[in-house]
Amino acid sequence: MVSSDTRSCLTIILAAGEGKRMASDLPKVLHPVAGLPMVCHVINTARDAGSNDLAVVVGNKAELVEQVVGENGAQVSTHLQTERLGTGHAVLAARDAVAPSHDDVIVLYGDVPLVKVETLVSARAALAEGADVVVLGFRTADPTGYGRLLVEGDELMAIREHKDASEEERKVDFCNSGIMAFRAEHMLPVLDAITNENAQGEYYLTDAVEIGRARGLKVVAAEVPEEETLGVNDRVQLAEVEGIYQRRRRNQLMREGVAMSAPESVYLHHDTRIARDVTVEPNVVFGPGVQVEQGATIRAFSHLEGATVGQNAVVGPYARLRPGADIGVGSKIGNFVEVKNAEIGDGAKVNHLSYVGDATVGEKANIGAGSITCNYDGFNKHRTTIGKEAFIGTNTSLVAPVTVGDHANTAAGSVIYQDVPSDDLAIERSKQANLPGKAKQLRARYLAEKAKKKG
Ligand code: UD1
Ligand code: MG
Repeated sequence: MVSSDTRSCLTIILAAGEGKRMASDLPKVLHPVAGLPMVCHVINTARDAGSNDLAVVVGNKAELVEQVVGENGAQVSTHLQTERLGTGHAVLAARDAVAPSHDDVIVLYGDVPLVKVETLVSARAALAEGADVVVLGFRTADPTGYGRLLVEGDELMAIREHKDASEEERKVDFCNSGIMAFRAEHMLPVLDAITNENAQGEYYLTDAVEIGRARGLKVVAAEVPEEETLGVNDRVQLAEVEGIYQRRRRNQLMREGVAMSAPESVYLHHDTRIARDVTVEPNVVFGPGVQVEQGATIRAFSHLEGATVGQNAVVGPYARLRPGADIGVGSKIGNFVEVKNAEIGDGAKVNHLSYVGDATVGEKANIGAGSITCNYDGFNKHRTTIGKEAFIGTNTSLVAPVTVGDHANTAAGSVIYQDVPSDDLAIERSKQANLPGKAKQLRARYLAEKAKKKG
């Protein structure tokens, strides 16, 4: 991938913060973006940038964060920061993770999830090319509160925290994102030299710049778009980050050949997989675990999760695919149809107002409007099996467990509670009786009653 591929890399992710402004019982770094906890986005980005070791510094609700991070990947170690004494102190909580084998160490933040893989790759490339410390900076209209990057030419001279900055320094709009990359051999000696003699009485990670320079290290700043450095402090910022993430993923899918006429109305999950020449109409929501194959169309206002949609299938408008829905090649799932844990065979049609759950539907079967599988008896779920090219009449109730054979039919309105052999027609409904002239009689009687009341 990159020249830095041959270099070994540790990423330390700070995730100890409280996140008070989230007003939540859930630790901030576990709030999801596109369904994945923020800190897991950061872990995945670091991994994709070639980081072979990952260390997460935990503090607030440490056990919960450790658990979630553990589920995301085995290669992550966690380190407890018991007191929050500043970013420099926080990085040192992961001191044990730093090994002589590491060439690069990157510092990321569990609440800054939009940093891109290529940004980290280029920071590592700068280390490979001779820098000892790389700081990622951004320019912003309102730099208040951020540390300022004080540069001279290519070199980063210092980072001055807002509270410690002079009037003149506060005019600088080049800000510290907090993201840094170190040549590993220098990191611990430099961080160990950081003190807390500053306006906030904290151990500032940012002091690594001046300390490093005093030791003759090469310290540089690299500019990245502000968007990548956005941190989440409250739910408004979380929604902003979500919006940016969604836009990026949609754009990526469109570049890969997915058509969207109103992309801003399509909501993706971080793991949504959509093949080329798929059309996604407006207002579609993808939950976890969806895969859509080439040429399929997902029509407006559909909701999909845990589902696979085969090539050239058409789903919706207003369809709901729940976990285990497996829609065959060229199948049609129409409006107000819900499919759960069911395989719909190639070319089968479930076009209107149906519920198909815990079922197997054969190739080219047709499920008439309003037909449902009665899969649940209040205690257990049961399966319905429908053969190939079977025709399920309108408003059939299929009381599971039940099997309808290949090429069999059920008559409209039937409650099917016994198996139907192949090629048979099952009718389960009372016989129709026509009473000659009865409607006319009734009409006359009702009109007379109405006239009497008015009079
Ligand atoms: C920090 C930077 C500042 C930069 C800004 C970008 C320092 C001294 N300052 O300031 O230059 O512009 O981020 O947002 O680094 N954390 C811990 N343990 C601690 C302290 C912090 O885990 O003891 C975590 C926080 O949860 C947070 C991150 O580190 O995710 C940054 O800490 P924060 O206190 O927000 O730093 P800032 O003052 O914003
Ligand atoms: Mg902050």
